[in-house]
Amino acid sequence: MRLDGFVAKATGLTRSQARKAIKSGDICLDGVVTKKAAISVADNQQVTLDGRSLSLPEFQYLMLHKPKGTVCATEDAEHPTVIDLLPDEVLANPKGELHPAGRLDRDTTGLVLISDNGHWTHNVTSPRKKCRKRYRVTLAEAVSDDAVEDLCRRFQQGVMLKGEDRPTLPAVLRIETPNQATVEISEGRYHQVKRMFAAVGNHVEELHRERIGLITLDKTLEPGEYRELTPEEIEAFC
Ligand code: URA
Repeated sequence: MRLDGFVAKATGLTRSQARKAIKSGDICLDGVVTKKAAISVADNQQVTLDGRSLSLPEFQYLMLHKPKGTVCATEDAEHPTVIDLLPDEVLANPKGELHPAGRLDRDTTGLVLISDNGHWTHNVTSPRKKCRKRYRVTLAEAVSDDAVEDLCRRFQQGVMLKGEDRPTLPAVLRIETPNQATVEISEGRYHQVKRMFAAVGNHVEELHRERIGLITLDKTLEPGEYRELTPEEIEAFC
């Protein structure tokens, strides 16, 4: 990487500000002042600004408790995005572009994973990885005791969604109370959970994601709050 690019990424300065700092003799490469903005910086070299060692930012990995009314996007003209909920210190100077791994509907709450490492988020969302996601569902129509077994079997066998030509992959449905269920799916089709319940004559009133793969939404996070992932949670999608 060029020295001006390195300084800009490490400090959050613009490229032209970084060049100015280099020209002014504020930057040392391996202890020697260098005024060449285009010089290449190798991995093992040390860059200092006014004697302070500079390093490139690390990737960030976060979980967020998505509140209702926000959209899973990096920008939106009409609604706040999940990225808008993050504080300036997280948004400042990322290594890549922070983005949510996959989408929840605007009225869906719960676990969203966010990172600036596109390779990592691809591992979360790639259909080929068949990552399991668990949702808590509030249903409009009560499921009677007699109907539970048949409904669970239909989800297990796969449900044909309106307008599609192949059934959903096997899903695990648990009816917790007549109007509350959990469902685990390993695909991410458009409005999938709502459409699966619509296909069996019910309607989803509330939808909340509890888990993605091995990562469970931290119960201490209120809607709108986030925390960094632990090394084990990051490793789950490496
Ligand atoms: N399925 C849906 O219908 N909506 C979501 O937000 C997520 C899964």
